Amino acid sequence: MEMNKVDSIIDAYNADPAFILEMMYDIQDEAQYVSRENMERIAEKLELPVAKVLRLATFYDSINLEPQGKHVCKVCTGTSCHVNGAEKVLHQVEKDLNVKAGGTTEDKIISLKEVSCMGACASGPLAQIDDEYHENITPDKIKQAVDQLRQK
Ligand code: FES
Repeated sequence: MEMNKVDSIIDAYNADPAFILEMMYDIQDEAQYVSRENMERIAEKLELPVAKVLRLATFYDSINLEPQGKHVCKVCTGTSCHVNGAEKVLHQVEKDLNVKAGGTTEDKIISLKEVSCMGACASGPLAQIDDEYHENITPDKIKQAVDQLRQK
């Protein structure tokens, strides 16, 4: 992402540190992720230590620190989903995609993310593929969903 675009996003919030998350989300909306260079620029313009910006960015699952694939598959392994078998679902996807959670397939088609709660605990295990939620997901169902995704 061009640095002048990053600057304009920061300036839109008057470089106010209270809106640092909003700045990162706006950058992510444009570029799909927030690069190390983007975080350094935020730190510089907000007059914050780079380490503080990095800590904040890494704290939130929803901020991507790496380029993402064409599709994003999220599997919730929060407590409620975990109790209902989310680990088996996650392992199935990792096996099918041949990528660990947090990574992207070699062909850059699918990124896999493990998240801690998506706010629908009663419907778990829960997965999200792009904008579509999959409730009560099982290893077999996620395999079908991922297979379909590869054909898109
Ligand atoms: S723990 Fe999975 S949605 Fe809350």
